[in-house]
Amino acid sequence: MKKKTFALLGVMAFAGVTILSSCQKDEVDDVSEVALKGPSGGTVTRYPLYIPPTVTPAGFNLTANVGTTNMGSRISNSWTFNNGMPGPTLVVNSGSTASINFQNNLPEESIVHWHGLIVDHANDGHPNQAIASNTSRSYNFPVIQRAGFSWYHPHTHLKTGKQVYFGLAGGFIIRDAEESGLSLPSGSMEVPLVLRDATFNSAGNLSYSPTAGGMNGKVSLVNGTINPYLDVQKAVYRFRILNGANSRVYDLRLVNTTNNAQIPFVLIGNDGGLLPSSHLISSVVMSNGERVDILADFRNYANGTKLMLKDNRTGWSLLEFRVGNTSVAYTGSVSPTTGGQFLSVVPALPNPDTTRIFSFDGMTKINGIEYDMNRVDWTVPYGRTELWRFVTNGNAPHPVHIHGAVFQVVSRTGGRNQVYVWEQGWKDTVLLENNETVTVKIRFNDDCNRNSLYLMHCHKLEHEDGGMMANFMVVD
Ligand code: C2O
Ligand code: CU
Ligand code: CU
Repeated sequence: MKKKTFALLGVMAFAGVTILSSCQKDEVDDVSEVALKGPSGGTVTRYPLYIPPTVTPAGFNLTANVGTTNMGSRISNSWTFNNGMPGPTLVVNSGSTASINFQNNLPEESIVHWHGLIVDHANDGHPNQAIASNTSRSYNFPVIQRAGFSWYHPHTHLKTGKQVYFGLAGGFIIRDAEESGLSLPSGSMEVPLVLRDATFNSAGNLSYSPTAGGMNGKVSLVNGTINPYLDVQKAVYRFRILNGANSRVYDLRLVNTTNNAQIPFVLIGNDGGLLPSSHLISSVVMSNGERVDILADFRNYANGTKLMLKDNRTGWSLLEFRVGNTSVAYTGSVSPTTGGQFLSVVPALPNPDTTRIFSFDGMTKINGIEYDMNRVDWTVPYGRTELWRFVTNGNAPHPVHIHGAVFQVVSRTGGRNQVYVWEQGWKDTVLLENNETVTVKIRFNDDCNRNSLYLMHCHKLEHEDGGMMANFMVVD
């Protein structure tokens, strides 16, 4: 009885959002949108960037709740992990065991997937593992990977887009000795940035009004904050950036707002951790689910200088950095001003013995069929290296994501016709644009892969929910 009352309250508390979301007329352009589109962010009021607390996932309780989030200029209805949007940043050492108890207090079923972590089927958050409203389940898995920035989010059948959109997502950092040996910026100088967008209704609440082509929000959020700023020292910062948007692809730049000069930064890692070497770059394209790890050097700017993280596609000003007057010495061993430095050995996977071709068709199909949770679409022999080739007949972007392993991007032909520096090393998501063929090398050779059922899907979440997803089984 008590349970039922709670679930009902959950629905009622959320009714404003769900009802309004079906009524497009009620959507309003946020005033901040205009300012966000301005060349320098205009005179818009900015709010301190929210930085989620960090926690160790050992005997950790992760609870999905219906609640509200203070986004700076407004408080909005939201669905949150542990009452934060994004949820807490989980931080573990490679080699340890993660144990997490997930409590689902949403008014509907849910399941959590650890995007980028290599775990067995039972721990992977596959939609066939979903738990009912007001129930819980525990996760227990060894963290077998090297250092990197992954994330977690629901993977509920047909509801991933909606649940992520309403706020359910968080960062998952793995550390190891190799990375620690580089003495990269830490503490307040290592900042996770979860990028996304949103549209609000006239009541000021998140409004989910997707089309088959995706949900592109009208307002930018970084770590759940609208129009955020971050006070920085004259120091080198490490930003762990995630594109956590449902559909939007970002083309990121760093700009000095006084003279509009583009400021280069140093790329050191991506989905699967450190790159083979560092790269000095001045823009990076990130599709849904992809991560980058960058160093930004604020040491030589005058007190009061404002720098802006911008998206070149929309012109949006995403996050303002305000340089303070304290200088902090940099003691890391990776240059924050030049690229080309060795970072880590990424051994090339062996020669493949099979090629599989996957066509991302329309907005709902892979190889001509829609997802069926109970169908195994192909099997992969354990321990063998394969080439997987992604093609599309249109309706891109299709950010292709694979569970259970990281892969190496071999080539991109057609379209942009190149593999970018941020696509080197180990990846779990790669962007397929129209007219492109992207080929990756992949191998499932970790113990947890044996006889595990995994997913491959488009990470534009509305394409995923629409059926652009498939099940495959690694057979031993
Ligand atoms: Cu980030 Cu299968 O998802
Ligand atoms: Cu994933
Ligand atoms: Cu797609």
